[in-house]
Amino acid sequence: MFYKQIIRSILFRFQPETAHAITFNLLKISSLVPFLPALMRRRFASCETQLHRRVFGIDFPNPVGLAAGLDKDAEVFDMLGNLGFGFVEIGTLTPKPQPGNPKPRLFRLKKDQALINRMGFNNKGVAAAVKRLKRKKTKVIIGGNIGKNKHTPNEQAVEDYKLCFNELYPYVDYFAVNVSSPNTPNLRALQDKKPLQNLLMELKKLNREKPKEKPILLKIAPDLTNEQLDDIVEIVQASRIDGIIATNTTISRKGLIYRQEEIEKLGAGGLSGKPLRKRSTEIIRYLSEKTAGKLPIIGVGGIHSAADALEKLEAGASLLQLYTGFIYEGVSLISAINKALKRKL
Ligand code: FNR
Repeated sequence: MFYKQIIRSILFRFQPETAHAITFNLLKISSLVPFLPALMRRRFASCETQLHRRVFGIDFPNPVGLAAGLDKDAEVFDMLGNLGFGFVEIGTLTPKPQPGNPKPRLFRLKKDQALINRMGFNNKGVAAAVKRLKRKKTKVIIGGNIGKNKHTPNEQAVEDYKLCFNELYPYVDYFAVNVSSPNTPNLRALQDKKPLQNLLMELKKLNREKPKEKPILLKIAPDLTNEQLDDIVEIVQASRIDGIIATNTTISRKGLIYRQEEIEKLGAGGLSGKPLRKRSTEIIRYLSEKTAGKLPIIGVGGIHSAADALEKLEAGASLLQLYTGFIYEGVSLISAINKALKRKL
């Protein structure tokens, strides 16, 4: 209530990227106020053992994580953990810093409780993120979401992913391989059979050379056909990576309240939030059935309530991530989901 009526109504008066910058600055400032981080942790971060779950060898304090794209540059992951997230996925990071697409590139569709973004992997580069990860203060679990620079041709993409993997390896708990953003030209072609097989095999090889293997997950788009999903399952199993994150944003504009002309005016980009919920759950269910529930799936896409979260878990997800729902509902969404999970135990 407090978030929606006061904080959100103030933040939503600003352009989405300005609201994001304000929130991040507030989080950074509050991390410097003596005792505040600890107080926040006590207020928000649940440490109840019933919510713990062990997935791909990691012990998560609760299953609700923050999806990639919000803390791209690993700036406020400690504070996000203090707000109650069971894990935080940083990135997408690329080897070199890059500015992303020209602004405006992020739009709110309030009536649909959705966002459209064409950020285009704006980030300060993997080395800058590593500097901040070295100063990690809490035990929050970190996922490192990795990608390629815009100007790296797909034929050389593997080298970008490998570089990010090597740089982040000592500082993250798991990896998310992002081949599904609609905002880097041609990136999603890396989801095709041959290049995907090659990319995952190479990363797995690199992982095996490390002192200890870290879980690798593949993040996929919601716009794939069942045949493409079948290929993905085959490749994921053959390359023996650890799981799938389903899903990224969609290029579809179906089922929106806004008129088509209004939406078209905003231009290209990935749609997230409520309109994505159903498709993302369908994909989770399909993958879970295909793999007899044996492949860990992180369910993400349109979770705006505890019921949405339970639906994803029932469809076969082992863990969850929020992005747009967190923007619209605030921090109470995390505890609402965790409370609902406890009631179900
Ligand atoms: C994203 N998302 C995203 N995903 C990713 O793997 N790398 C990224 O850099 C980004 N960046 C990004 C920016 C913005 C502004 C949004 C809204 C989303 C996708 C995100 O992690 C998630 O998969 C989708 O947004 C679907 O979940 P929600 O938002 O419906 O909960």
